[in-house]
Amino acid sequence: MASSPLHGLQFPKCHFLSLKSQFHPRLRFPSYSSKLTIPATNTTRSSLVTDTDSDRKEVQAIEVDSFACPICYEPLIRKGPSGLNLSAIYRSGFNCKRCRKSYSSKDKYLDLTVTSGLEYNEHQPILTELFRSPFVSFFYERGWRQNFNLGGFPGPEEEFKMAQDYFQSAKGGCLVDVSCGSGLFSRKFAKSGTYSGVVALDFSENMLRQCYDFINKDDTLLKANLGLVRADVCRLPFSSGSVDAVHAGAALHCWPSPSNSVAEISRILRSGGIFVGSTFLRYSSTTPMIVRSFREIVARTNSFLTEEEIEGLCMSCGLINYTSKVHQSFIIFSAQKP
Ligand SMILES: C[S@@+](CC[C@H](N)C(=O)[O-])C[C@H]1O[C@@H](n2cnc3c(N)ncnc32)[C@H](O)[C@@H]1O
Repeated sequence: MASSPLHGLQFPKCHFLSLKSQFHPRLRFPSYSSKLTIPATNTTRSSLVTDTDSDRKEVQAIEVDSFACPICYEPLIRKGPSGLNLSAIYRSGFNCKRCRKSYSSKDKYLDLTVTSGLEYNEHQPILTELFRSPFVSFFYERGWRQNFNLGGFPGPEEEFKMAQDYFQSAKGGCLVDVSCGSGLFSRKFAKSGTYSGVVALDFSENMLRQCYDFINKDDTLLKANLGLVRADVCRLPFSSGSVDAVHAGAALHCWPSPSNSVAEISRILRSGGIFVGSTFLRYSSTTPMIVRSFREIVARTNSFLTEEEIEGLCMSCGLINYTSKVHQSFIIFSAQKP
């Protein structure tokens, strides 16, 4: 990684709040804006990531970051270059003052799971574990995802257009692509130039490695404000009300707890922020009764929901203006934070 081409890149700067601010930062990634820089002698310095040599020679860039601690949700303190691109994140250290815990990109992504840095592998439900496999991660965009059209998925181009239509009011804001897999849509969102920043987030280490490999082959994406983060959808590492748009393509049926996940998404969305998701339905209104009964049995142990259940879940998590489109087992839906 040390010899990665990422290291030669320039990175844009973010805006951040004062360390003393009571307000949580809204995720914004404009090309250039001022950042809070604290002299190395500042009293807040002691609990932060340090670099003794540079402490003496130069003023350190220490900032309240847009990422939050997955344990207490306080904004993390960042030391290093600002910006969301891979190089800037890789060269930064992140620290939670309250939990006294550090987070960094030891691999190709920033690990913001609760177990980051631990030799501890918690058993996850089957559809979470399936996508952690190197085999599935490698073949995901090389044939696996194409099979979704058998269930009525219209294909990435059309799904991307539908999502972009729903996200009209989030233009210029920050989009989090939750359960991004190998980054099929994160790359499209980043390339569209619609957003100030895109966070590609997944729980699978191998999906994120694939995502990195795809980004690494594309100079435009390497320079884009596109960050890679490992996190659990039930513990999203962002402050409440800080995100403009959340996308979750073909994901809800893979989540360990759809209700906790949608609640988390609702928590991080700012007022007016948009959530767009797609998934396989347990059955739709056009599914024949005989097939429906069979799917009731098969899908019971997984998180395949009905149209009504998805709408109910969004509403019960405080989201409004629910709307959806259905084609066979495919549903794409959107809901808004009031
Ligand atoms: C079917 S893939 C969808 C990938 C991509 N969004 C797409 O539209 O093709 C589902 C993804 O959900 C992720 N996932 C499963 N459990 C998760 C969890 N607890 N937190 C975050 N992501 C999770 C998997 O790792 C996998 O990449």
